Amino acid sequence: DWTMTSVIESGVEAVQAQVGDARVICALSGGVDSAVAAALVHRAVGPQLTCVFVDHGLMRENEGEQVVETFRRHQGIELIHVQAQDRFFARLEGLTDPEEKRKAIGEEFIRVFEENTGGITDARFLVQGTLYPDVIESGGSEGSSTIKSHHNVGGLPEDMELELVEPLRTLFKDEVRALGTELGLPDEIVWRQPFPGPGLGVRVIGEVTPERVALLQRADTIVRDEIKAAGLEREIWQAFAVLPDIRSVGVQGDERTYGHPIIIRAVTSEDAMTADWARLPHDLLERMSSRIINEVDGVNRVAYDVTSKPPGTIEWE
Ligand code: XMP
Repeated sequence: DWTMTSVIESGVEAVQAQVGDARVICALSGGVDSAVAAALVHRAVGPQLTCVFVDHGLMRENEGEQVVETFRRHQGIELIHVQAQDRFFARLEGLTDPEEKRKAIGEEFIRVFEENTGGITDARFLVQGTLYPDVIESGGSEGSSTIKSHHNVGGLPEDMELELVEPLRTLFKDEVRALGTELGLPDEIVWRQPFPGPGLGVRVIGEVTPERVALLQRADTIVRDEIKAAGLEREIWQAFAVLPDIRSVGVQGDERTYGHPIIIRAVTSEDAMTADWARLPHDLLERMSSRIINEVDGVNRVAYDVTSKPPGTIEWE
């Protein structure tokens, strides 16, 4: 439609006017916002843009590959793919406090990002997928958001002295999705649920280990598959699984089990500031529950979180 076409045109012109012929870098998070921002900047300045995708090993199942695939093949954007899983897991060893985990992931991210962009010495601009609600939340000040800074793994080193390019600053989420589609991004990326920068690191409660992340990824895929199969994908703001650090007793095939529970979290929301727990049909919850218990080794119980925000937050940590 012509409105999106004009949004693209004016966005492209603004980016071109801002960056001229300088080099631009972008940290792809795997999320919708950074993907759409990168695609728009690429439309504007083509090969002047280099994207960096740091895979911290805390993505949803197969999501890292999907990002790389889309950007390299489909969009032809220059992409540095950093496999940093081992570093992140080493850094997270023994950490259980939510804030310490967040801090560790954020700091490691910056370190890895710096190491991998060190060669791009002429970069003068950094793309960020800041949306209008982020701008409001931070008081509409110039530059990047402050209140949510810890919230954004795209929040990068201050001493890099890069000027921010924020082509989505006037847009809401639904407009960003429409723009992404218009720019040719596939539905899997455009309709991706919001996902926290620290990823599954804040959904594995307690210590984050590769084994616990792998278990959560399998349960999480089932939750999202079933939401999709029920045709609810676009109505639900976020639906995911959480792995708590407790165990519970169960019985399977006459045997006592002592396994892990999985908590399903599904919410509706407009902007994540407030959220309602989703009234999912009971038969859908039943399908998720039996599939998770049958298909994910070590899980013997499934619980559904019926807390809205406030008083809960969307994430558990
Ligand atoms: P909460 O849990 O605060 O989450 O209700 C609100 C929205 O923000 C996402 N979220 C994050 N996003 N880095 C991010 O980029 C973070 O550290 C982070 N923590 C929460 C969450 O998924 C929800 O959409």
